Amino acid sequence: MSMTTADKHKTAGLAGVVAGQTAISTVGKEGVGLTYRGYAIEDLAREASFEEVAHLLIHEDLPTQHQAGEYQCRLMGLRDLPDALREMLGWIPASAHAMDVLRTGCSALGCLEPEHRQADQEKIADRLLAALPSMLLDWHLTHEREARVNLRTTQPSLAGHFLQLLHGKPPADRERQAMNVSLILYAEHEFNASTFAARIAASTLSDFYSAVTAAIGTLRGRLHGGANEAALDLIRCFADPDEAEAGIREALDWKVKIMGFGHRVYREFDPRSRVLEPWVESLADTPERRRLYEIARRIVDVMWREKEIFPNVDFYSALLYHFLGIPQALFTPLFVLARISGWSAHILEQRGDNRLIRPDAEYIGPEPRPYVRLEDR
Ligand code: COA
Repeated sequence: MSMTTADKHKTAGLAGVVAGQTAISTVGKEGVGLTYRGYAIEDLAREASFEEVAHLLIHEDLPTQHQAGEYQCRLMGLRDLPDALREMLGWIPASAHAMDVLRTGCSALGCLEPEHRQADQEKIADRLLAALPSMLLDWHLTHEREARVNLRTTQPSLAGHFLQLLHGKPPADRERQAMNVSLILYAEHEFNASTFAARIAASTLSDFYSAVTAAIGTLRGRLHGGANEAALDLIRCFADPDEAEAGIREALDWKVKIMGFGHRVYREFDPRSRVLEPWVESLADTPERRRLYEIARRIVDVMWREKEIFPNVDFYSALLYHFLGIPQALFTPLFVLARISGWSAHILEQRGDNRLIRPDAEYIGPEPRPYVRLEDR
C-alpha cells in the first residue's frame, strides 16, 4: 500500500517513528525533560563530574567514591597516543576541518589498536574517551605552536585537562566547572542522528571504531553538531541587540533557519539550554562579553515572540566556549569528546540485543520497463 502525502509528511526524517528501545536516556518525554539512566540532567549538571556521567552511561551505573577515583586514574592513563598516530595527525594540514581530524584519528586508532574480540568493547570505549581529546589537541596545538607539544597534565578531569592544554595554564575553578557542565549536557541524547548512525553500523556487527567513525561524520553537519559554530557566527555578526532584533526579523521573513534554535523532539524548551544559560551569564564579565550576551538574549526573545521557537543547547554552548577562549573550529569536536560516552553506551546496548537495522523504502520511481540495448538508444 502506498503512502499518502500526509503519511509521507508525518514520517519524513523518521520524525515520531519509534526505531527501537533504549534504557540509556529519555528525551522530551511529555515534550520536556532529559534523563540519563533515570537521573535528571539538572541534578547531574549540578552535582556530578563528566567522568561520573561517562561511567554511568558506559558502565551502567554511577561509580562509588572508590570507583570514581579509580576510573579517573584509568582514563588519565589512557590519554597517551601511539607515536604512529601522532605522526599521522601531524600530516593533516592546519586547514583541515577539525571534525575530519577526529574522524580520521578514530579510524586510524582502529587500525593500530583493533578490536579483536567483543569482550574488549568497554576498554575501547574508555580508550576513545581518553584518546579523542589528545588527538584533537595534538593536531591543533602542533599547528598553532609549530612544534610538538607535551600532552600530559595532572588535571584529572577532561574539563581541566582540555583547558590547561589549550591555554598553557590551569583554568580557574569556575571555568573548569562551566566546561564540565557543558560536557555533561552534551554526553547523551537518545536516538539523535549520530547515535542512530553508530547503532546502524554496530547492528551490522562491524567493529567499535567503525561505528564511532560513522557517528563523528554524522555529527559534523550543521543541522546537528555543527550548529554551535554557526550560532557564534550569527551572534557575532550584530553590533548590538537592536541590530540583532532587526536582522533576525528579516531572516525569518526570508524563511532562513536560525542556527541554535528549534529541536526535533522538545516542544517547549531544551532543558540543556536552561542549565547552560546561567553559566554563560556568569562568564559574561567583561563589557565585550556582556555585549555578546545581550545580543544573544535579544535573539532568544525575538525568536520566541515571532515564532515560539526556543534556543537549543548549541546556542548557549557557542557563547560559553567562546567565553572560555576556545577557538570556534573546536566547538563541534568538543561535542564529540562528550558524546563519545553516549555513543559507546548505545553501541554496547545495540550489540547486547542485536538485530540488523534495515528499514523499508516506498518505491516512487518508474514502472517496470524493458531494457534498451546501448546501440539502440
Ligand atoms: N529557525 C527558524 N525556523 C525554524 C527553526 C529555526 N532554527 N527550526 C525550525 N523552524 C521552523 C521551520 O521553518 C518549520 O516551519 P514551517 O512549518 O513554517 O515550515 C518548523 O519550524 C518545523 O521545522 P523543521 O525543520 O521541519 O523541524 P525538524 O524537526 O525537521 O528540524 C532542527 C529540527 C533542529 C533540524 C531544526 O529546528 C533546525 O534546523 N534548527 C537549526 C539547526 C540547529 O540548531 N541544530 C541543532 C539541534 S540540537
